[in-house]
Amino acid sequence: MKFFIDTANLNDIAEAQALGVLDGVTTNPSLMAKEGISGAENILAHYQKICDLVEGDVSAEVISTDFEGMVKEGEALAALHPQIVVKLPMIADGVKACKYFSDKGIRTNVTLVFSAGQALLAAKAGATYVSPFLGRLDDISTDGLNLIHEIRTIYDNYGFQTQILAASIRNTMHVINCAKLGSDVMTGPLSSITGLLKHPLTDSGLAKFLEDYNKSNQ
Ligand code: E4P
Repeated sequence: MKFFIDTANLNDIAEAQALGVLDGVTTNPSLMAKEGISGAENILAHYQKICDLVEGDVSAEVISTDFEGMVKEGEALAALHPQIVVKLPMIADGVKACKYFSDKGIRTNVTLVFSAGQALLAAKAGATYVSPFLGRLDDISTDGLNLIHEIRTIYDNYGFQTQILAASIRNTMHVINCAKLGSDVMTGPLSSITGLLKHPLTDSGLAKFLEDYNKSNQ
C-alpha cells in the first residue's frame, strides 16, 4: 500500500518524508489556499518545492472545468516536473481530459469520486489513480469504506490497472480498513500516518526495557 500525504504544507511533507514511508503527495486548491499560496506562478513554484522534497508522485489539480482549459493547465503542470500527476475533477470534461492525457502517456488522478459508477468511468478513461473521498461520505452518514470495497471488486473483475487512491482519509482506522480492503494507496494528513506509530504497550514496554538496562549497567 502506498502512503501519500494530503497537504501543501512543506513542514508536514518533510516530516513524513523523513520517516521514510512516504510514497507521494496529493494537494487540492483548498489545501494550497490554506498555505496562503495563490497566483499561477506561486502555485507552480510551490509544486516544484514539493517535488524537490519527495521522490514519489505529486498530484496537482487543475482549476478549469472545461476540456480545453484542463488540457492547457494539465500540460503545463505535467511539463513542470516528471513527478507531477494531473488531478482532474469527475465531471464530463474531466473524463474527456483524462482520456486525452492517458492517450498521451501523461498520468492522471480523477478526484471527487463518490460512487462506483464514477470510478468505473475513470478507469475506462485510463486514469492512473481514482480518488474516492471516504471521509466526506462518512460526513453525510454514508459508508465510505463500502465504496472502496465496490471499486476494488469492479476493478478486479475486469483487471483495470487504475489504482484506488483512498482520499479524504481522516484517521488511522480509515488507513487500516482501506489496507484490509486492498486499496492501492491512501492519502491523508500527517496525523493519519504518525498515528499508526502509537501504542501504549510499546511506550510502557520500552520504558521497562530501558529501566532494566540502566539498573544492570550502573
Ligand atoms: C484528495 O485528493 C483530497 O485532497 C482530500 O483527500 C480531501 O480530503 P478532505 O475531505 O479531508 O478535505
